[in-house]
Amino acid sequence: DWNPGNVIAEQVERIRAQVGDARVICGLSGGVDSSVAAALVQRAVGDQLTCVFVDHGLLRTGEAEQVEQDFVAATGVQLKVVDARERFLTALAGVSDPETKRKIIGREFIRVFEDAAREVVEDAGAHGEDVKFLVQGTLYPDVVESGGGEGAANIKSHHNVGGLPDDLQFALVEPLRTLFKDEVRAVGLELGVPESIVWRQPFPGPGLGIRIVGEVTAERLETLRAADAIAREELTRAGLDREIWQCPVVLLGDVRSVGVQGDGRTYGHPIVLRPVSSEDAMTADWTRLPYDVLATISTRITNEVPEVNRVVLDVTSKPPGTIEWE
Ligand code: XMP
Repeated sequence: DWNPGNVIAEQVERIRAQVGDARVICGLSGGVDSSVAAALVQRAVGDQLTCVFVDHGLLRTGEAEQVEQDFVAATGVQLKVVDARERFLTALAGVSDPETKRKIIGREFIRVFEDAAREVVEDAGAHGEDVKFLVQGTLYPDVVESGGGEGAANIKSHHNVGGLPDDLQFALVEPLRTLFKDEVRAVGLELGVPESIVWRQPFPGPGLGIRIVGEVTAERLETLRAADAIAREELTRAGLDREIWQCPVVLLGDVRSVGVQGDGRTYGHPIVLRPVSSEDAMTADWTRLPYDVLATISTRITNEVPEVNRVVLDVTSKPPGTIEWE
């Protein structure tokens, strides 16, 4: 019978056999897969593992804290946090084109991660140790999609820990290779990974950077974070988290419209709600959210986020619309 306890026991043995005394590195994104993979490797080899979390400043409210505090407290993982928020903002300054933004975010991410990985390797080297292994949260569907076999895990290149430099050679540790998403969640819960991480809906690697139409600035990020936090809070309160696949909240940074608040005219930005239902994100339908939930979200966002004076609902399926706006 499948149960998470058996999977953990089996993987712990395998990881120990593979890794021996060597040191291991793992990039954490805040998502389910990398977190559960890290927790499993931590259970197996403890402090031989160092996790690296790059804070690119494009996460939603509370997500960096979930990794830096909750995840560490729950698992005891050794974590190296790189605060790269300024670096990403600087790199994104003046850029509005979606593909250019994605490329910049991907490029900067890899550079920052490489530097951090190199530091971990050097620190270990100073202690006479070798870092030989890199943990990847590859799941069974990823293995199948990429044709299976060893090294099939050349990860989705657009995010997370993409191509490492040639002078950093790692063998991969992939403890989730035989598991489906729901099994990964069960294993994560059994390992004590916080529920906020285990049940996190899909979130793109480039984060809020591709949910601001127009230039990404610190002010716009703050506006979007505030609106997004309200939408998520109300969807959770309404018990809808497991019914929707995900609900991107998008700030139309280059659009303004006229509004009225109290006695005053406003000229603010619209926020788009993009709730979708899907099986695998390849196709999706817009979710028919209850009107009263939509009304509460709209009222709260326009009351509580001064820069926003209009909330609109995206009623497009995929295709023709993608789930994300960029
Ligand atoms: P689209 O917008 O293509 O999104 O319909 C499909 C799914 O993929 C997510 N997504 C990404 N995930 N890195 C990721 O890890 C990315 O660059 C990326 N872009 C889109 C999106 O949130 C949806 O679940």
